[in-house]
Amino acid sequence: MPAIVLIGAQWGDEGKGKATDLLGSRVDYVVKFNGGNNAGHTVVVGDQKYALHLLPSGILTEGVVPVIANGVVVDIEVLFHELEALTSRGLDVSRLLVSANAHVITQYHRTLDKVTERFLGKRQIGTTGRGIGPAYADKINRVGIRIQDIFDENILRQKVEGALDIKNHILVKIYNRRAIAVDEVVEDLLSYADRLRPMVADTGLELNRALDAGKTVLFEGGQATMLDVDHGTYPFVTSSNATSGGAATGSGVAPNRFDRVIAVVKAYTTRVGSGPFPTELFDESGEFLRANGFEFGTTTGRPRRCGWYDAPVARYAARINGVTDFVLTKLDVLTGLATIPVCVAYDVDGVRVDEVPVSQSDYHHAVPIYEEFPGWTEDITGVRAFEDLPANAQAYVLALEKMSGSRISAIGVGPDREAIVVRHDLLT
Ligand code: IMP
Repeated sequence: MPAIVLIGAQWGDEGKGKATDLLGSRVDYVVKFNGGNNAGHTVVVGDQKYALHLLPSGILTEGVVPVIANGVVVDIEVLFHELEALTSRGLDVSRLLVSANAHVITQYHRTLDKVTERFLGKRQIGTTGRGIGPAYADKINRVGIRIQDIFDENILRQKVEGALDIKNHILVKIYNRRAIAVDEVVEDLLSYADRLRPMVADTGLELNRALDAGKTVLFEGGQATMLDVDHGTYPFVTSSNATSGGAATGSGVAPNRFDRVIAVVKAYTTRVGSGPFPTELFDESGEFLRANGFEFGTTTGRPRRCGWYDAPVARYAARINGVTDFVLTKLDVLTGLATIPVCVAYDVDGVRVDEVPVSQSDYHHAVPIYEEFPGWTEDITGVRAFEDLPANAQAYVLALEKMSGSRISAIGVGPDREAIVVRHDLLT
């Protein structure tokens, strides 16, 4: 029975909610396996709008078990803040499971994220400032705090002392900030212990048992392929594995159990933060995409950088993730353009390069080679069958499919949940 991985194919904000909605009631578990509250999605249920950053979207669906797995970094304050916001609106959040092995984002991670970015100046990553990088750095450095540590005060104190030892020197001597007291951090974390205890589980065991029992499990990746710490545009990436491989390490479910890998890809491209983005537009076309697509960050409110569709990026995502289906989103945003350029390859210092270059310098120099497609003017937001799309819109989708390395199984044609054209069932 299906274990489905859902990831972003570009630099994030592809609109994964569209694909989640499509799977809807067929899913029993929704698992967040990487990242933390750097993500942001707005979910609309009925006439209610919910902004989630940390909680998996499944929290809003009755009967679904939402899981925060071991690969996630958890800001516990944010966790309870989001849970309280939902309970105050009458939602039952009691099904949530949190991995005992997930790492915790503390006050010192948030502080370090912000001061480091400031220190980097022009070289900054443009992080969300939520402490994600410093928390993962501690995990890899083996000085992280895990959820399970919160239930043993002695261990917790020792670990926080160990982590703050060097960090306080850095904060005081390099960044000229005040030292952070061990007690302050320990007491803050302990204050959540009683509320946290009932949610904490061996989520790897739970998920494997669920799959054994024939349940459908959706693994929802935060961020996206080009922000993956191994496969993205390093160092302008997030600090976790946002690609499909991360679903295995980040959850304790083995790679050979995954049946489908669905990648969400926008009909154009956006990016927040710094780093290479070959098809980025600095003219009125970029403004057109930003305004029509409402491209402003859910987490930070920053205007997103906008550009044309990049086929080598989609192909790269298909390869790295083993994509079985693409969900193409926001096709309607392109309505009204006379022609739509698509990047089919790059010119790197006078040489045509068909795939994403492995060298960072080459990628910085990559100039897109465009092929132009004729646009359409008809409103497509009400279209529900592929054949009913304007001929030029159909041709655009088929051209992208040919270039992008996997079938395009569904197409988002408007902001409403129902505004989607399905070409192939995502689970078969
Ligand atoms: P961090 O994840 O806060 O460390 O930020 C690292 C990079 O990833 C920055 O460029 C962020 O803008 C970007 N990023 C993090 N989360 C998201 C997301 O959910 N959507 C898009 N970009 C993101």
